[in-house]
Amino acid sequence: MKLLAFNGSPRNGGNTQILLSEAIRGAREQEADVTLHNLNALNLRPCQHCGGCDDTGHCVIQDDMQAIHRDIRAADRIIVASPIFFFSVSAQTKIMIDRCQAFWTEKYVHKKPVPSGPFGRKGLLILVGGMKRNAGNQGFKCAEATAQAFFRTVNVPEHVTLEFDSVDEKGAIAKHPTALKEAYEAGIALAAR
Ligand SMILES: Cc1cc2nc3c(=O)[nH]c(=O)nc-3n(C[C@H](O)[C@H](O)[C@H](O)COP(=O)(O)O)c2cc1C
Repeated sequence: MKLLAFNGSPRNGGNTQILLSEAIRGAREQEADVTLHNLNALNLRPCQHCGGCDDTGHCVIQDDMQAIHRDIRAADRIIVASPIFFFSVSAQTKIMIDRCQAFWTEKYVHKKPVPSGPFGRKGLLILVGGMKRNAGNQGFKCAEATAQAFFRTVNVPEHVTLEFDSVDEKGAIAKHPTALKEAYEAGIALAAR
């Protein structure tokens, strides 16, 4: 089973990376074959809305997204992990998502969704934010909406979301009473056959 994971945080050793590592550890125990993309380290141009994918469903921009597109097609499981930045996913995550407009065209215009493969396609969304969860904090809601649009566009029909609020300092998630275990167990569940 191929598992594709995206780390959308620029902070090396940060909360997103720690949580994602736990989820991957769980998935590897289920013998998932994991490919990890640290989005901040990649050469990814934002979508130019050039229409280059309109006729073919394939993005014409030649950068690291070409490899990600191949990995998305091949994946049975996809994890998106992002910090909350200004009430949504990080810019690194959003650039990757916007560049999936090519999949949107392929699925909704050309009616050719990414094939499901032998295990179906499932997703896991991991979000961590520094602010307290309260009525005025729309961060998780907005990030969830964006990630859901991404998952459905790349033909992942179901995903589970883990959200951790009030976690701000680099590495503070390690002191959370349940977060690492939750991420690890979500990784196991995601990759279980
Ligand atoms: C540019 C920027 C914007 C942020 N905006 C929010 C926000 O809107 N809501 C929130 O809860 N936390 C916000 N934070 C805090 C981060 O989500 C928090 O520090 C998180 O733990 C970072 O995860 P990381 O260690 O994986 O990078 C912001 C941080 C930065 C740098």
